[in-house]
Amino acid sequence: MRNNLTIRLITVLLLTLFALQGTAWAQVKAETPEQKAKRMSWWTDARFGMFIHWGLYSLPARHEWVKNYERLTNEQYQKYFDNFNPDLYNPKEWARMAKEAGMKYVVLTAKHHEGFCLFDSKFTDYKATKTPFGKDIIREYVDALRAEGLKVGFYYSLIDWHHPDYTIDSNHPQRQNSDSAYIRLNKGKDMAKYREYLINQVRELLTNYGEISVIWFDFSFPGKNGKDKKDWDSEKLLKMVRQLQPGIMVNDRLDLKEYENGWDFTTPEQFKVAKWPEVNGKQIPWETCQTFSGSWGYYRDEKTWKSTEQLLVLLIESVSKGGNLLLNVGPTARGMFDDRAQLALSNMGQWMKFNSRSIYGCTQAPAKFKAPENSLMTYNPTTNRLYIHLLEYPLQNFTLPGYKGMVKYAQFLHDGSEIKITAKSGHWLKEDDNPNDLNLSLPVSKPNVEIPVIELILN
Ligand code: GLC
Repeated sequence: MRNNLTIRLITVLLLTLFALQGTAWAQVKAETPEQKAKRMSWWTDARFGMFIHWGLYSLPARHEWVKNYERLTNEQYQKYFDNFNPDLYNPKEWARMAKEAGMKYVVLTAKHHEGFCLFDSKFTDYKATKTPFGKDIIREYVDALRAEGLKVGFYYSLIDWHHPDYTIDSNHPQRQNSDSAYIRLNKGKDMAKYREYLINQVRELLTNYGEISVIWFDFSFPGKNGKDKKDWDSEKLLKMVRQLQPGIMVNDRLDLKEYENGWDFTTPEQFKVAKWPEVNGKQIPWETCQTFSGSWGYYRDEKTWKSTEQLLVLLIESVSKGGNLLLNVGPTARGMFDDRAQLALSNMGQWMKFNSRSIYGCTQAPAKFKAPENSLMTYNPTTNRLYIHLLEYPLQNFTLPGYKGMVKYAQFLHDGSEIKITAKSGHWLKEDDNPNDLNLSLPVSKPNVEIPVIELILN
C-alpha cells in the first residue's frame, strides 16, 4: 500500500517536471517573430559589443588553443594554473574602456576549451578561486559591467579539454590517428557525466549572477570523432537556459540550427559576410566576432594588428548589412588589456563619440538608396536618416545617385555642419549625368575624422 502510494507520487512528480520542461520549450516555440524581435531589440540596437577571452592560456601567451596545438597533457598544463595570479585585474577599468569605445555589451569566457573556470563553480576545483588569485573573477566582472550600464554576457565552452569524462575527439589535445586508439583512450570515460557537469555549470552561471543578457556556447563539430547536440543534450540545455533567463540571447553553436528556436543569432567568425545572411530566404540576426590580431587569447608575439580604419570598417560594414560586431580583447596574465588593445579601443571610441548615431539603432538601408562611390551606408528606420560613410574622401563634388526629391537636409555627423545640396544642371551636366542625381558640395580638405559620415535627413 505504502509502496504503491510512493510510486504514484513519484510518477506524478516526474510527469509534472516533464510537463514543465515541455512548456518551456513550447513557450520558446510559440514566440511570434514580433515577440522575438522585441526580446532582441536591445541587442539589434546596440550593434557593438566586446568579447573577452581570458583564462590560463594568457600565461603561455601564445594562443588560447595552445594546449591543443602543442598537445599538452593536463600535467604539462598545470603550471599555468599554479601560477595564475592576475594581480592587476580590475574589471571596472575593463568596463570603462568598453563603454568609452562605444560598446554596449560584453561577453567574457566563463570557461574556455581548456576547461578552467573563471567562476566559483561548486562542481569543480579547476577554477580561479583555487588558484593563487583566489577570487571569483565572474562576480567582480558582472558587478563592474552593471555599474557602467553595460549588458552582461557569458561565453561557455561546450568543449572541455580538462574534464576526466570528456571523451577524446578530433579537436582534443590528445587526438589520435586510429579508431582503436580512440576506443582505448576513451575506455571508462562517460559523456553522460560530462553532460551533467555542463548543465550544472550553466545553471550556476544563469542563477548566481543576476540577469544575464547573452550566453555564447562554443562549439559543436558533428561527424566522426566529433561532438554534436546529442553529446551536449542541447535541447535540454536550451530549455533550461530559456527557463532561467527568459530574455537571454543565445548564439547558434549548440547544433540546433534546424530548429527555428534553437538559436537567436548566427555567428560568422573572422570573416566578412558578403550580404545579410539568410535562412530560407529570410534575413536572420547575426553578429560577427573578430579579433584585433590573429588570436582570441593574449598572444604576446602576434603582430598582425588591424588598423583603426579596418576596425571601423568592420563595425560600419556589419551594421550596413544588418549585423553586430563583437570585437575581442585578450587580457594579459596580470589582468590588463595590453597597450595595443587599449589604443585600438580608444581610437574607436574617439570616432564613436561623434559618429555613433550612424551605428546605434541603425541597419541596412532600404534598397531604393543606391550606395554612392566608395561608401558604406547605414539607416535609422526610427528617425528616417541615412548615413553615408566616406571610405575614400572625394574631391569636393559628391554624387548621390538617383536621390532627387529624397533629401531634406545634409550635414556632417561629427560637427553638424551643413553640406550644400545642388541639383546637377546647366553646363555642369555632362552627357552621361542622370538628372535624378543630387550633388553634395564637400569641403576640399577631409575633416579630421578617420571615416567622415554624411547624415541625410530624408523626406
Ligand atoms: C573558435 C575557437 C575559439 C574562440 C571562438 C570565438 O570557435 O575555438 O578559441 O573562442 O572561435 O568565436
